[in-house]
Amino acid sequence: MFSKSIFDLTHGAYIVTGGSGFLGRAHCHAIAAFGGTPIILDLNKSASDILLEEIKSEHDVRAQVYPIDITSKEELLKVLAEITKSLPIKGLVNNAARNPVVSRTGLETSSRLENFSLEDWDKDINVGLKGSFLCTQVFGSHMNEFQGGSIVNISSDLGIIAPKQSLYKIENKNESEQPVKPVTYSIVKTGLIGLTRYTASYWPTKIRCNCLCPGGIENNQSQSFLNKVCAEIPLGRLAKLDEYGGALIFLLSSASSYMNGAIISIDGGRTTW
Ligand SMILES: NC(=O)c1ccc[n+]([C@@H]2O[C@H](COP(=O)([O-])OP(=O)(O)OC[C@H]3O[C@@H](n4cnc5c(N)ncnc54)[C@H](O)[C@@H]3O)[C@@H](O)[C@H]2O)c1
Repeated sequence: MFSKSIFDLTHGAYIVTGGSGFLGRAHCHAIAAFGGTPIILDLNKSASDILLEEIKSEHDVRAQVYPIDITSKEELLKVLAEITKSLPIKGLVNNAARNPVVSRTGLETSSRLENFSLEDWDKDINVGLKGSFLCTQVFGSHMNEFQGGSIVNISSDLGIIAPKQSLYKIENKNESEQPVKPVTYSIVKTGLIGLTRYTASYWPTKIRCNCLCPGGIENNQSQSFLNKVCAEIPLGRLAKLDEYGGALIFLLSSASSYMNGAIISIDGGRTTW
């Protein structure tokens, strides 16, 4: 009755938006490790080309790279036509977002609610929400019409709870100059939970849609930031980059065939407190 093959992704194309970013790369490696063909949609062509070679040498899988802007429906339709010449699309990971690393980007006063620009609002909402909607529309409709498939939306622990802005606090600065996680991050990540529920119930017989809410990942953060953030997490640490792959493969594969509309926290327990 049980076999390892329930996790098998061979003979299918699995689209990963933002596929050559920090976490997207790990998604693509996980997909290839289970035999799937990662389809990398990312503006960053050079990083995508490097990833393509890595995947070929480590997993003997030929990934595909499309250096496109996911907010363009026209470009997504061209990609759809191209992929389906050779492979059935079986999965979509809506992962791309403008992901400001507050401690590093010098966002400071411009990230604060009082000063947040409409230009940044439009850019963040466009990539995180419009891009995910368009990919769902283009690739989800196609999968629904043909072989069916699984959509995984990548939200965040900050889709479930509010950012604790004191984590980003810099000593000796006035409150009005303190950097914060931008308001759009909460809105995009919460919006993806809504998109998940909508999609899960819209095409219920052929498309499953679930949402992963990852917590923060170790990435050379300062020790002072780590001390503060780890105190918020029952496991007492951030995630390692490879700790989301298992859940992603589970959700993309037939191992999760009865799972639809689930919002799954993987955050060391942070959202339990
Ligand atoms: N890094 C974390 O600790 C963390 C934690 C929780 C959730 N997440 C979520 O995981 C996802 C990936 O995060 P990350 O840390 O890898 O971010 P990242 O910034 O490293 O990667 C994002 C990728 O998206 C691409 N991209 C941006 N706009 C695009 C567009 N219009 N069209 C095509 N590609 C575009 C970028 O080129 C980049 O490669 C995001 O949704 C983020 O919110 C990350």
